Amino acid sequence: MLEEFYIEPFAPGRIQWFGVDLMNIADLDTPSVVVDLDVLERNVRHMAERAGETGVRLRPHAKTHKIPEVARLQLAAGARGISLAKTGEAEVFAAAGFDDVFLAYPVVGAEKARRLLALSDRVRLAVGTDGVEGASSLGGVFHPAGRRLDVLLKVDCGYHRVGVSPESAVEVARRIADLPGISVRGVFTHAGHAYLATTREEVDAIARQEGEILAATAQVLRGAGLPVEEVSVGSTPTARGAMAVEGVTECRPGNYVYHDASQVSLGTCGIGDCAMTVLATVVSVPATDRAVLDCGSKTLSSDALRPRPSGHGWILGRKSRIDKLTEEHGVVRVEAGESFRVGEKVRILPNHACVVSNLHDRIVVARGDRVEGEWAVAARGKVR
Ligand SMILES: Cc1ncc(COP(=O)(O)O)c(C=O)c1O
Repeated sequence: MLEEFYIEPFAPGRIQWFGVDLMNIADLDTPSVVVDLDVLERNVRHMAERAGETGVRLRPHAKTHKIPEVARLQLAAGARGISLAKTGEAEVFAAAGFDDVFLAYPVVGAEKARRLLALSDRVRLAVGTDGVEGASSLGGVFHPAGRRLDVLLKVDCGYHRVGVSPESAVEVARRIADLPGISVRGVFTHAGHAYLATTREEVDAIARQEGEILAATAQVLRGAGLPVEEVSVGSTPTARGAMAVEGVTECRPGNYVYHDASQVSLGTCGIGDCAMTVLATVVSVPATDRAVLDCGSKTLSSDALRPRPSGHGWILGRKSRIDKLTEEHGVVRVEAGESFRVGEKVRILPNHACVVSNLHDRIVVARGDRVEGEWAVAARGKVR
């Protein structure tokens, strides 16, 4: 079935405004989220090449874009399957024909397990778990149906969000493997703490640890007689380093398709590697040192710049920064020597692209200033 995807022509839908095709970004109404297809395609290709060099399978986290058309580009470039977080996201992607999904999240409860059971008829499915209670709530639905659900045990490599400690992994994995209706496919981790690293050396050290801790845990599990097929790491800043570690089999970067101001601050990429910008209009200039844009937290989200919080996105080509956000307003502190005029359009590099995706029904697709069309963000807003 997926072969059919590969040959499907890639075609964003046209954007019309009162019956006229919009051709230039400057003609778009605001706020609009714009993705540059040339940059996106290059990002997809580069990450696929990095994975290819190490022999690690790429399973991109599609939560960043939530757009089946983008995931098709990732698969066409060599990715094997996709990662998602929410059961509802998996349902959207399964309906679009994706047949290999890992929910990299500790899914818990019979309600979601019933939906996963239905999905597992047509999707090679696995979910994350970090404990017996959660896994048992899923097995309790799969076992009576005569089915088994694959799980990957989440191991904490230093982020301290979810995941078992490496020291307790064998004991927990053994108990999960004994549960009816559950099979342990492997282990996974996410080095989210890399986003707080203030030097490139620190990011690289975290990446190495991410890979080494997980690969070592997998070996201990195998030594205890537990089959570990998948050793899955991944975040955008750590992908390159973690994939280079012997024993890692899979990587799940997400943000790399778009990048954002945080990735630039972390040194993961340059501004030219950022595919997503927000087009906004200056709606008020109430003082010489203040201008207001029509993009507030509803458009940009309130996510802070990482690793050091500072402002709410970068206005491209300007030194002035968005200082304050309310729901509908982006308040700019105008730097000396710069000025803004009402009606002027500006482009903003958001702090965090993934959350911007989740706030918008559609994104505009462009090459340079030329509008190519738009894509529906089909899996946005799926909180369950
Ligand atoms: C479990 C998990 N895996 C992978 C990713 C992808 O990381 P990034 O967006 O840094 O590429 C995330 C992002 O939050 C995640 O939570």
